[in-house]
Amino acid sequence: MRVLVTGGAGYIGSHTCVALIEAGYTPLVLDNLCNSSPVSLDRVAQISGTRPQFIEGDVRDAALLTGLFESHDIAAVIHFAGLKAVGESVEQPLAYYDNNVSGTVTLLQAMQNAGVNRIIFSSSATVYGDPASVPIREDFPLSATNPYGRSKLMIEEMLGDLHLAHPDWRIARLRYFNPVGAHASGLIGEDPQGIPNNLMPYITQVAIGRRDKLRVFGGDWPTPDGTGVRDYIHVMDLAEGHVAALDYLLKNEGLFTVNLGSGQGYSVLQMLHALGRASHQTLAHEIVARRAGDIAECWADPAAALALLGWQTRRSLDDICADAWRWQQANPMGYAE
Ligand code: NAD
Ligand code: UFG
Repeated sequence: MRVLVTGGAGYIGSHTCVALIEAGYTPLVLDNLCNSSPVSLDRVAQISGTRPQFIEGDVRDAALLTGLFESHDIAAVIHFAGLKAVGESVEQPLAYYDNNVSGTVTLLQAMQNAGVNRIIFSSSATVYGDPASVPIREDFPLSATNPYGRSKLMIEEMLGDLHLAHPDWRIARLRYFNPVGAHASGLIGEDPQGIPNNLMPYITQVAIGRRDKLRVFGGDWPTPDGTGVRDYIHVMDLAEGHVAALDYLLKNEGLFTVNLGSGQGYSVLQMLHALGRASHQTLAHEIVARRAGDIAECWADPAAALALLGWQTRRSLDDICADAWRWQQANPMGYAE
């Protein structure tokens, strides 16, 4: 069964291609490579024995999508394509609304014209804003504090409206917590361009010697060790969550929204020390001022995904660090080598 994977050459998309192939699905990747390398798909082939069919193109290209749906028998769409840097979204809001919101409108229109009505959408825990309490349940109030988060909220609402108007659509809105780690082979992983914004790739680049130390954003948060706490989810657990959501949508009607997280929070210092253990070194850090827009703590109540999809995370913090470190060691400069 063929599944269109937009953004399938990216970090989460490439891992999801592996999980899809392992589950017997046939991914068809559409990606404009604005934040990824096609080498990731060669590596997916190395891992799985199957190279996903790849179309280089943009989800905002309506004519391309029309042709693509006409020429392929597509059962469902997993929609990863989009921009994801919070700081950049503040500086370039229109790029985010264009790529994320307009891109999704164009995709949904092409799906509707082609009679394809099953979609899994990459939402984010960012839609909970600064939560009043943890763990976070799906029925908590939603808010956005930056254009990236607002684009995710807008798309969630758009999908809700679409389902109200056309109840035959089958829609999954998946709210990811913090995806980290890499495939256990070390062949695919996260490959940020420039200085990493996110914690884990920054730490692994310190461990490999590309950065001198981690700057910890705030040591005075109201958390056990004073540093920010997040729900880090192994990217292969996340990938398998998409397969579970797809299996569900093929059997059930309706729209559903679930958190994909582990239900466990770890602090910045816990993450630094865990990667230090995995890489057998003491990693340098310095506590600096808080980063604008950060929150103290954020972790999921993952019960709904377990009840609905029978899915929960299986991999530990040590698995995350061992796999992230294996990827970083084998690919010190990412896919560029
Ligand atoms: P990524 O940048 O690695 O992957 C996104 C892919 O989409 C890239 O390969 C990029 O080239 C492609 N792309 C972007 N705009 C496109 C367009 N207009 N047309 C075609 N392709 C396009 O990011 P990721 O971490 O794999 O994230 C995937 C999705 O998950 C994104 O929608 C992101 O917002 C969401 N998400 C990510 C995180 C995270 O921390 N990584 C957390 C929550 C949600
Ligand atoms: N951190 C540091 N130093 C760094 C990078 C991060 O101390 O160099 C800290 C942050 O302050 C935070 C934690 O590490 O406490 C995690 O930060 P990330 O940037 O890795 O992740 P965030 O939780 O801030 O952001 C992630 C996604 C966003 C999404 C957000 C909310 O990257 O896209 O979760 O779901 F919007």
